[in-house]
Amino acid sequence: MAQKFAAPRGTADVLPADSHRWHYLETTFRKLAERYGYRELRTPAFEATELFVRSSGETSEVVTKQMYTFTDKGGRSMTLKPEGTAPAVRAYLENNLSQSGQITRLWYPTQIFRYERPQKGRMRQAHQVGIELLGSASADADAEVIQLTVDFYRELGLPEVEVKLNSIGREQTRKNYREALLAHIADWLEKQDEDTKERALKNPMRLLDSKDPNIQEAVQQAPQIQDHLEDESRRHFDTLTSLLKAAGVRFQVDPLIVRGLDYYTDTVFEVQSSALGSQSALCGGGRYDKLVEDLGGPAVPAVGVAMGIERALLAMEAAEVQVEAPHPAVFLVSATEAAHDKVRELARDLRTQNVATLYDLDFRGLRNQMKQADRSGANYAVVVGDDELASGKATVKPLRIPGEQESVPFEGLAAHVKR
Ligand code: HAM
Repeated sequence: MAQKFAAPRGTADVLPADSHRWHYLETTFRKLAERYGYRELRTPAFEATELFVRSSGETSEVVTKQMYTFTDKGGRSMTLKPEGTAPAVRAYLENNLSQSGQITRLWYPTQIFRYERPQKGRMRQAHQVGIELLGSASADADAEVIQLTVDFYRELGLPEVEVKLNSIGREQTRKNYREALLAHIADWLEKQDEDTKERALKNPMRLLDSKDPNIQEAVQQAPQIQDHLEDESRRHFDTLTSLLKAAGVRFQVDPLIVRGLDYYTDTVFEVQSSALGSQSALCGGGRYDKLVEDLGGPAVPAVGVAMGIERALLAMEAAEVQVEAPHPAVFLVSATEAAHDKVRELARDLRTQNVATLYDLDFRGLRNQMKQADRSGANYAVVVGDDELASGKATVKPLRIPGEQESVPFEGLAAHVKR
């Protein structure tokens, strides 16, 4: 027997029965982003490995454990993109998308690849939509990105989302905080295994959002990074929170939001959903004022966010948000052999006039065709037989919409069903 294949673990097909939900989500996002003045950017599926090592951070989990890295036939190390921000910044610099002193607004749909342990809402190939706003250091930029984020979920039918907001400061803050945090957990850390010790020393801040109960307990009374912020960071954060309040955006300051990628400075945020179980983050984002420089560009402050598509769809499902599946407007039914040619011609004509039309290519019996018409979800069955050929009028039966059966001249069909 021939070998059977399955989709790789952690990946999923988007099936015809579901694809309209994806379209709905992506279209909602595109229209929203365009309303805010963002322009679409698409970046390649893979990039030089070094791009992600330098941006996500050598010690980040994404880089140390999750990257799909391969050597291409030219001997270069390439990586399937685990996230969209570094590629966006690379494209921004390479294509001179920056106009000096101006703001650049980019939105993107992207696949991401992370070798994770798959579970509900956690895939090895996942999909995001995101935005990057480059060229503004002002808290208004952070507020715009957060506002667009909550607008997105509201427009998807998830009005109750709450933003978890934090500031992780800049280099000096993090240095000071690292010491304070390590001092606080010193006794506990002594008793841990080598792996935990190593991870804690590399990036102690990541202990804060650990899901491990042992670690959670250790950091429970830990000092908070907010108490170590430099004046400028503190002012930025205060301005942002007042902007969000004024705009009526629901948020909660959460000192445990620290993010898993190393490029963030100051503002970080997530939106979580209880519908997702342990994979609670619907989206994540924040400010990254050093990344453009770190990737060889000028000093350009920036802020952005990415929303997981699979997770948004799960949250919509949990909230029972209905998305209408596409269906044909017309199913043409040929009642006699003599009508086949007319049905073909009408199908051509209706499709040209932008009417979604189906007919039975095999011209099975009348009852069978009527059954297919029903099952197709078409608004109308349009029947053509000997009488119709003689009178030049089709019999139009409403299937999904209220109304009586009518005789409609062939040339008036498109207008009739569009009404
Ligand atoms: P992130 O938090 O790594 O941030 O990912 C953003 C969102 O993508 C998550 O909140 C989640 O919804 C979704 N996501 C991530 N990994 C998976 C996965 N394995 N399976 C399913 N969904 C997943 C970033 O990617 C940053 N680039 C966001 C950003 C943009 N920061 C600034 N600009």
